[in-house]
Amino acid sequence: MTATFAELWNGIAPIGRVRNGGYLRYALEEPELVLRDWFRNQAARRDMAVTDDGNGNLFAWWGDQWGHDAVLTGSHFDSVPHGGGFDGPLGIVSAFLAVDELRRQGHVPSRPIAVVAFVEEEGGRFGVPCLGSRLLSGAIEPEQAAALTDREGITFGEALGGTPAGRLPGLTGRINALVELHIEQGRALEVPVGVASAIWPHGRWRFDFTGIGDHAGTTSMTDRRDPMLTFAYTVLAANKEARLAGAHATMARVEVEPNATNAIPSLVRGWLDARAAETGTLDGLVDAVVKRAHDRAGRDGTEVAVTSESFSAEVTFEKSLAARLASLLGDVPILPTGAGHDAGVLSAHVPTAMLFVRNPTGVSHSPAEHAEEEDCVAGVGALARVLGDLT
Ligand code: GLV
Ligand code: MN
Ligand code: MN
Ligand code: MN
Repeated sequence: MTATFAELWNGIAPIGRVRNGGYLRYALEEPELVLRDWFRNQAARRDMAVTDDGNGNLFAWWGDQWGHDAVLTGSHFDSVPHGGGFDGPLGIVSAFLAVDELRRQGHVPSRPIAVVAFVEEEGGRFGVPCLGSRLLSGAIEPEQAAALTDREGITFGEALGGTPAGRLPGLTGRINALVELHIEQGRALEVPVGVASAIWPHGRWRFDFTGIGDHAGTTSMTDRRDPMLTFAYTVLAANKEARLAGAHATMARVEVEPNATNAIPSLVRGWLDARAAETGTLDGLVDAVVKRAHDRAGRDGTEVAVTSESFSAEVTFEKSLAARLASLLGDVPILPTGAGHDAGVLSAHVPTAMLFVRNPTGVSHSPAEHAEEEDCVAGVGALARVLGDLT
């Protein structure tokens, strides 16, 4: 089987795309399930057996299934709500094409190669990003993952069809390395392909602001206990603290009860996404935002409760591996990123590396995300060279 990049890419591009050009590909829901079928189909066309690790992650094998020392390559299918089409799927499409290229060259791998599709990388449905790789590596307990709920109250366990299997026994012996190819999500890569050096530590915190729901017309301004005010102040405080710290803070998801034009809310729930180059800076930022939210709640007569929903520690990709790949690809740039990835989660257990494909506008998690076809083709070539070198 040999396909061109455009053939494979155009096959999946319409799946889950909505009117604004963005994607709704939530893990284990209809468009993503179609992509999983596409994955099985592509594997079958290449005589690659497909396995599931019991956590929702799919693997297509060139060589022994879970033989020793496998090299994994791939990414994820799921998107953020109205995200771009490249974030994730580019790594899976490129992985299949890199297998084609190596076979075309007559390469005989010295160890198994598996194309992988990780489940729920964005946390767009169940709230915890990189859920599949966290489960595979034991970074989250299966029971805890199983109980996570989506917006309809469906649990991850229900969506998966049972409690996840959890950590893969013998993980480090079974996986020799993981190479994830991904669209670059910032504005830093000016050549077609680069290599990742590090991922900023980051996390998600849920802020529950509670007050007293009441009538918008009859409640005097002095009698109100309005959690929207406390929330609004916290959004501004997060922005200011992040600027002061040289870090990133975003409050972009909010739920309001009752969410009526003419009712003072009883509850505002807002999520903080915070990231920084260093863990100490991140901790200081989050502490400052939490403190300012509490101080403001005191003044507004409201209450605030903060829950940490996920944390991804600082990642430094194995320096010797990154340097080896960069030199193999012709001294391409090695650069850090503020975006999280399954390769980051697995880097705590096995050598991992990432290849980035240029993003001309730097926009991501948006329908405007884009990569040029020739850069994607260059990415496939780079991935094939890297896999050839590692196997
Ligand atoms: C996932 O892409 C993230 O970094 O939020
Ligand atoms: Mn993403
Ligand atoms: Mn991604
Ligand atoms: Mn990501």
